[in-house]
Amino acid sequence: MMAQDKVRIVEVGPRDGLQNEASPLGVPARIAMVEGLIAAGLRAVEVGSFVSPKWVPQMVGSDEVLGAFAHRTDLRLPVLVPNMKGFAAAQAAGAREIAVFASASESFSQKNINCSIDESLDRFRPVMEAAVDAGIAVRGYVSCAWGCPYEGAVDPAAVVRVSKALHAMGCYEISVSDTIGTGTPTAAREVIEAVAGSVPMTALAVHVHDTYGQALANILACLQAGVRVFDASVGGLGGCPYAEGATGNVATEDLVFMLDGMGIHTGVDLRRLCTVALDVSGTLGRPPSSHVARVFAQNGGEGFPFDTRLT
Ligand code: HMG
Ligand code: MG
Repeated sequence: MMAQDKVRIVEVGPRDGLQNEASPLGVPARIAMVEGLIAAGLRAVEVGSFVSPKWVPQMVGSDEVLGAFAHRTDLRLPVLVPNMKGFAAAQAAGAREIAVFASASESFSQKNINCSIDESLDRFRPVMEAAVDAGIAVRGYVSCAWGCPYEGAVDPAAVVRVSKALHAMGCYEISVSDTIGTGTPTAAREVIEAVAGSVPMTALAVHVHDTYGQALANILACLQAGVRVFDASVGGLGGCPYAEGATGNVATEDLVFMLDGMGIHTGVDLRRLCTVALDVSGTLGRPPSSHVARVFAQNGGEGFPFDTRLT
């Protein structure tokens, strides 16, 4: 690892972090959260989803959240889009980047978006064409890359196939996702290296949930394999309503702490980020699940170890 290495963090808290909350956060609170994340230095923030309100009511109002930042052409503010209906709504709200989401597992595809993997790829083709025509960038997720809540083990060949299809379709980046957090470092590396055989490493991101406490270890394994883009959620919020038992994403502040300590630049201010984690968890009425924000909360930021480690 070179000290001058940079990592790009895609903050998914306002989307993945909040899409599973029993008491959904209203639009003003979500806008305040995104503002805080931007102020902390995050330059890519997934702000919402244009999915069916019957399936994910928590994301209703994503047009207003996105609209509040329409003037920030310096930022990447992707939103999830499952079909043409979602694309039209996202475009009308001013989206300059969207994310389509497929799965490496048939059962999860059915439960999450009510169609097979191949049907989902067919649905994404017109979305992709419309996005290209409109100059809208498209990211692609591949869920269940290290395990499926319904099928268990997932063949890495399935992850490769779907990643390759999304990339060939025009997704500029493929976010290989550990939906239920069952990956461990050796498997994390094996899957990423398998995908990198078909999609350039520079077009890969890794999206891990921390259900079994493996998130940072898996990120480190993927970092060592060459990945330089990681998704994370402030406060470790998150989960997928269609992946029972899955908990939050890796906490952004834990990830930043690790990368700062390794001398890897992220451009994120850890103190400001912890403040956002504490604000959001306060609104949700529970402590953040991240290690770093809890330490920050205990000492009010005094003597935060990185005061001495940041140079
Ligand atoms: P369906 O029921 O098969 O869709 O759902 P449909 O086309 O038959 O439409 C049913 C109704 O939904 C209709 O309304 C449509 O108009 C409406 P009605 O006539 O009944 O009043 N509808 C929409 N409304 C708003 N926006 C839309 C839209 N599309 C249809 N875009 C569908 C199919 C894909 C819509 C549904 O399954 C869905 O919305 N799924 C989204 C599930 C979701 O958001 N899951 C969480 C995100 S994925 C994730 O978390 C994983 C990730 O983090 C990576 C990882 O960790 O693995 C990304
Ligand atoms: Mg996720």
